[in-house]
Amino acid sequence: MASDETVPVKPDGTEGSAGEEHQPYIEALQQKRDEMLLGGGKARIDAQHAKGKLTARERIAQLVDEGTFQEVDGFVVHRSTDFGMENNRFLGDGLVTGFAKIDSRRVCIYAADFTVLGGSFGEAAGLKVSRVMDLAMQAGVPVIGLSDGGGARIQEGVNSLLAFGELFYRNTLASGVVPQISVELGPCAGGAVYSPALTDFIIIARKIGNMFITGPEVIKSVTGEAVDMETLGGADTHATVSGVAHFAAEDEADAMEITRKLLSYLPSNNAEHAPILPPSDDPWRMDPALNSLVPVDSSTPYDMKQVIERVFDLGSFFEVQAGYAPNAVVGFARLHGQSVGVVAQQPAYLAGVIDINASDKIARFVRFCDAFNLPVITFSDSPGFLPGVAQEHGGIIRHGAKIVYAYSEATVPKITVITRKGYGGAYIVMGSKYLRADFVFAWPTAEIAVMGADGAVNILFGKKIKESSDPQAERSRLVAEYREKFANPYQAAAGGHVDDILIPEETRPRLIAALELLRDKHAKLPTKKHGNIPL
Ligand code: HXC
Repeated sequence: MASDETVPVKPDGTEGSAGEEHQPYIEALQQKRDEMLLGGGKARIDAQHAKGKLTARERIAQLVDEGTFQEVDGFVVHRSTDFGMENNRFLGDGLVTGFAKIDSRRVCIYAADFTVLGGSFGEAAGLKVSRVMDLAMQAGVPVIGLSDGGGARIQEGVNSLLAFGELFYRNTLASGVVPQISVELGPCAGGAVYSPALTDFIIIARKIGNMFITGPEVIKSVTGEAVDMETLGGADTHATVSGVAHFAAEDEADAMEITRKLLSYLPSNNAEHAPILPPSDDPWRMDPALNSLVPVDSSTPYDMKQVIERVFDLGSFFEVQAGYAPNAVVGFARLHGQSVGVVAQQPAYLAGVIDINASDKIARFVRFCDAFNLPVITFSDSPGFLPGVAQEHGGIIRHGAKIVYAYSEATVPKITVITRKGYGGAYIVMGSKYLRADFVFAWPTAEIAVMGADGAVNILFGKKIKESSDPQAERSRLVAEYREKFANPYQAAAGGHVDDILIPEETRPRLIAALELLRDKHAKLPTKKHGNIPL
């Protein structure tokens, strides 16, 4: 891990010592510190533990390098006096904020403290989170938010809405400047969900974390539908059905592990490159199993993750949104120690077809990579867009266009490998030369054509087949003729649409060489305020 460690940090709780005269001052401060560390008090901490949850500070300790957390604004209290709030003041006011190191790299952190008024978010918490976000942007370090609370603090009325509004605004400004990660370790309800939703990655812990706009009771009263909290907005729901979450964690410890691992692939900000790890794998490693991994019968499925695992540094592939739209695969990996984004179709699921959810998944991931200087390596094998009324009415046109937009505007190095089907629109959108891929390679099994052989023959020769004395034989003959002509990468290579045709085992060294060439790539887009991606 690349380290930016320059200053050794003293562990927490180091006691100061002084002469007799000053001792009372130090003791008074120590007492205040102890009070701060107790949050909402021992009974609340015990209740939190009884629910199988850690406190905010315990969570931070679990996440960061030992002894590196520096709390800021720990003495802040709210100034509300309504509803008896003057008797309900706790140091820190339900949010622990500060900075620390993870794998020796700097991060800013905020964590809801459920022991204080249920982790509800008021004006003071708003000021604290704003400050830590501003610090993160100025210092150019990732922000990690640990959520566990009742949302806007009801007693503070509009002031708590202001607090959320300020957070949302900063989440938006920080987007594309520093990576933002949200970890859901408790309830996250109502408008409060929009802070995590504005960040780059959401990790939800199973059983304890949930997110929803309106809870089961409201839904029942408005629509009559009965649903439990877990089904409505638990980790698995968001990691598989809604696509809101990127990772479902087993528990709190797993959520922290995922967060640390994720950060290891990312730069600290948009002006940096991700850390390059000492290479753990031979750049010239050629895996002969790749040569026969793609079945020659183009309707036989295979597992694209096998391709990815074998091409990138062994053990480095870290899948994102694994449970959502599994017909597309996105994630991070390393090539000769360099962190890259990987995008692929999964022929083992719905033949790797592109649907609405896959479009959103791919487009968002490509944009993240582009924002943070991560090269995009695409493995493409898709028969096209998913046909159907539901897809058309759901706006597959608009959603599919996002992929085109994301690849086109991405100026990071882009390398595409077509392993088999490159039909029509799917071929163009998946990082083709026309969208300014720097290199497009094809495997010998690639079929690059306007459409598949069966469909093409039906359209071109429907009448001829019908009139033939033996329609079935005629059809087979015409399909074979079409396949002979188009079901290969040579026509595309002859026209320069692909740069080279690789024996599959050559893919790893060829990608590494191409990435090395593109290390200092500079590409410019036309000057504009911002584009208008079809949302
Ligand atoms: C003030 C709150 C609170 C809130 C909880 N508490 N939520 N105090 N404002 N929003 C307090 C409770 O009164 C209680 O105090 C303590 O926190 C613990 O809460 P419990 O309900 O005992 O805990 P639990 O059973 O674990 O339930 C947790 C919960 C539930 C699911 C979060 O408290 C809940 O549903 N809270 C309300 C959620 C909500 O509707 N929030 C507003 C959403 S709208 P005592 O002292 O009695 O123990 C919103 C708008 C944001 O957030 C808009 C942004 C644009």
